[in-house]
Amino acid sequence: MREEIAKYLKTRTELEGGLYLEGEIENGFKRVLMTLEEYGRQISGCMKCDLGKTRKNFVFGKGDPKSKIVFIGEAPGADEDAQGIPFVGRAGKLLDEILRDHNFKTEEVYICNILKCRPPGNRDPLPDEIASCEPYLIRQLEMIKPKMIVALGRIAAQTLLRNNTPIGKMRGNTYLYNEIPFFVIYHPAAILRNPNWRKDVDQDMMKIRRFFDVN
Ligand code: URA
Repeated sequence: MREEIAKYLKTRTELEGGLYLEGEIENGFKRVLMTLEEYGRQISGCMKCDLGKTRKNFVFGKGDPKSKIVFIGEAPGADEDAQGIPFVGRAGKLLDEILRDHNFKTEEVYICNILKCRPPGNRDPLPDEIASCEPYLIRQLEMIKPKMIVALGRIAAQTLLRNNTPIGKMRGNTYLYNEIPFFVIYHPAAILRNPNWRKDVDQDMMKIRRFFDVN
């Protein structure tokens, strides 16, 4: 029991940057009520995996920290690494266009990635990188408390759902990720390579929009 409590406290300390505070008293415990932005700053020096050595910038997330909807991509690319902001390159521009077409303002959604640092040469994330980084995403989602999540592309969907299902079979379905309704659409970079998939994304986004409107 003692070991379990020690392990739990170690994990929380890692996740919350080791800060316990004065101020708000919740259930008898003094605890930091950090904003999402502060949390991002707190973990931005992360060196839990080797990507910490090669990144230019830690890419935490962008958008409304209280959004009802969170879009999750795979990992930052070169443009995102250079600017420290997710989805600012070509795929990001297309994501902006898709959002606009379905009446989402970029500032009313929240956008982030599974990995917060760029894998060199944009290779797929490695299992140990995902294992190091996913707790940050989980904490991020705990703080945002979205009503729905949209995975952008196969890697994000398979990683979070822990399956090997082809994306063509996942899109169109509704799943749960830690009790949160979870949708899957093709990654905007995949649409740039295969413009035929845009109509599928539009079809999926209409369903996502309807769910957003009633939740
Ligand atoms: N692709 C992603 O998955 N994430 C980004 O931030 C940019 C491109």
